[in-house]
Formats: sequence, C-alpha cells, structure tokens
Amino acid sequence: MTATDLDWTSRARGLADLLRDHGDIRSPRWHAAVAEVPRHVFVPCVYEQDGTGAWVGWETSGKLDRVYAPQTLVTVLEDRGGYREPVSSSTNPELMVRMLETLDIRDGHRVLEIGTGTGYNAGLLSHRLGDGRVFSVDVDAGLVELARERLARVGYRPALAAVDGEQGLPEHAPYDRIIATCSVPVIPDAWVKQLTRGGGLLADLKLAISAGNLVHLHTASGGGLEGRFVARQASFMAMRHHRDDPIPLTGSDVEPERFRSTEAPVPPWSQPVVWFLAQLSGLPRGIVFGTLLDPETRQPTTATLTAPDGSWARASFTDRRVAERGEVALWEPVERAHARWVEAGRPAWDRLGLTVGPDGDQWVWIDEPGGQYRWKLPTGRG
Ligand SMILES: C[S@@+](CC[C@H](N)C(=O)[O-])C[C@H]1O[C@@H](n2cnc3c(N)ncnc32)[C@H](O)[C@@H]1O
Repeated sequence: MTATDLDWTSRARGLADLLRDHGDIRSPRWHAAVAEVPRHVFVPCVYEQDGTGAWVGWETSGKLDRVYAPQTLVTVLEDRGGYREPVSSSTNPELMVRMLETLDIRDGHRVLEIGTGTGYNAGLLSHRLGDGRVFSVDVDAGLVELARERLARVGYRPALAAVDGEQGLPEHAPYDRIIATCSVPVIPDAWVKQLTRGGGLLADLKLAISAGNLVHLHTASGGGLEGRFVARQASFMAMRHHRDDPIPLTGSDVEPERFRSTEAPVPPWSQPVVWFLAQLSGLPRGIVFGTLLDPETRQPTTATLTAPDGSWARASFTDRRVAERGEVALWEPVERAHARWVEAGRPAWDRLGLTVGPDGDQWVWIDEPGGQYRWKLPTGRG
C-alpha cells in the first residue's frame, strides 16, 4: 500500500463516519461505499471562487482533506459571455448519500442516474449494487469518457452513455430507481415510462433558481407517479438544454408606472415555498431576479424581477412598497402565491407533493392530491 493509499483510505473512512454521525448515512452499505470509493480519483482538479468571485482552479493531490469533506467540488465551468458558470461538479457527498438513502436502494435493484458528472456517484452505486446494475448518462460526451476511465481505474464498468438525460436510457429500461443529479422544470415522460412498477424516482424539480426542491415519487396504482417533496431543500444545476438565456435588466432610469404595497416576503426567494408557488401562479418563464445594493453600505435595499418582455417589479426591503412597469404585473403572482401559502398554514416542503398523471399532466399540491390547494405544472404540451 502506498502513502497516498493510506492517506485516502483513512480520510474516506473519516468522511463516512462523519456522515453516519450526522445522520445522513443510515445503512452500513452506504457507509462502506463512501469509505471505499476513492473520491479523489474522480476530482483531480476543481474550481472555487476567490474573495472577488473569480474562479480559480486547483489540483486536489496533496489536499485530500478538502476532497474527503462534505463539500461540492466544481469541476467544469462554461463561458457565458463575460462570466464563467459551473456546469458540472461532484455533488456534496452529504447530499448524495441522503438521496441514496431516501431512494431505499436494495440488493438487485437496477438504477439509472441522470447526470454522470465526475462518475463518483456512479462509483458509489456500483459499490452498493455491482456495476452491472448501474446506468448513468450525461449530456457532455467528454465528461462521460473521463468518468468511464476513472470508474475503470477503480474497478467499475457501469453502462454510461452520452445522451440527453431527458430521454432516459430506453435501451436498458426498466429501472427500479431513477436519480437525477441535475434539476428539471417538469418530470420527463421518458423517466415515467422507464420505471418499473413499484419503482422510485428522486429529482430536483426547479422552475427557476431556488424555486423548487427534491421530490420523491413512486409509481401510482392507476399509472403515473406520485410523491412528496423532501423536507430539506437541495439544489442542483439545471439540465443544460433547459437553461434560459440571460436577459438584460431594464435600466434604472426607467420610471415606474404603478406602485403597490406587499404582504409577501421581500425578497420572495427568501421563502422558497412561496417563490416556488409564485412560479406556478403566473410568473413568466425566464424571469431574471436579483437585488440592488445601497452604493454606500453595500447592503441589499431592493429585490428586482424582470420578465423577458422587459416588464419589471422592484420591491423595497424596508417599506414593503413595490414599483412596477410593463405589461405583465410581475408582483401579482408573488402576492397570490403568498396569500394561498398563508391560508394553507404556511406549509414547509414536506407538506407539498407532486402527481404525474397517466396522461402526463403534472400537479403540485399541498397535503393531498385532490385537495383545494393545487397548481398545474406547465409541461409544455399546451
Ligand atoms: C451536479 S453534476 C452531477 C454530479 C455527478 N452525479 C457526480 O457524482 O459527480 C450535474 C451533471 O448534469 C449534467 N447534465 C446537465 N444537463 C444534462 C442533460 N440534459 N442530460 C444529462 N446530463 C445533464 C451536467 O453535464 C453535469 O455533469
């Protein structure tokens, strides 16, 4: 055994123990997977932001403490015309094992992962199930090849494919479990079709940044899927083809046309369930949002929403006044979503659920599928 082997094995075991002590790992089988799959092989080079927000790359060899830690490690950046944005990473192992535990993966299961990324999670799954039962896809062919090499180096050969995960992987279907490690605005039909009867699916349903959470679905007796959002909020990168092109914020010299007061939280994304419900209550797709800072104190003063058609709303943090301009009254859906949320008793994520009907329609609900609080998810089918 080399010095590096000794280094990583004790650290990997330390990480597994930590995740068990924090309650993220509940079963000895996932403890063994985290203790025995070398994460450093999958993340030789990663990026992080320095104090100015600039991305800096560093090599992980010799810094194994930072690899065997509950931290997301960004591995790929994409240029977005002037700034770089992460498009692939090795997810925080704490979140990864919580998802694997939630899915109740058992011996003999066949699992499809959407978003191979580094291949580390495919490695954990291969350790748990045997690589012949693991299938993983990524839209980025280069990443799939790297993951294939690295998995082979540690002795695993799961079925990997460079395809758009929205299509699943029909040639090896059906799967007992599907886990998505990139977010989707709607559950793709292909995933529903590729699950076995009695199967389970865990995916991050996000309608905009911070507007959504992991939802855990099971096949329903009449066809389709049903289940609840998980209690703890989590966030994944958006599926790449769903990314909305950034649009410029309207200049600050444009005068407002209307004013109103608000009961809703400012900024609305500070209450993620309200922010999620606002997207379902009429906020247009592709909205850009952010905060304006006081130029002197650098403290946030105003939340801004801007729609693709240029309509905008600005809500003051201090006096709860909202200024608006443009054809779409952007604050109205926020106010409506907040009012319904208050009426429903301010539910946290675990009171929300999702039904994917046999006809493909998708509904978000509070407490029960057929109850008074339900919203149709835009599925793009009109
Ligand atoms: C957070 S990373 C996945 C982490 C990975 N499971 C691991 O263990 O390293 C998200 C991945 O989703 C992938 N992705 C984005 N859009 C996709 C799509 N349409 N189909 C499949 N994969 C996609 C990205 O390329 C990225 O590698």
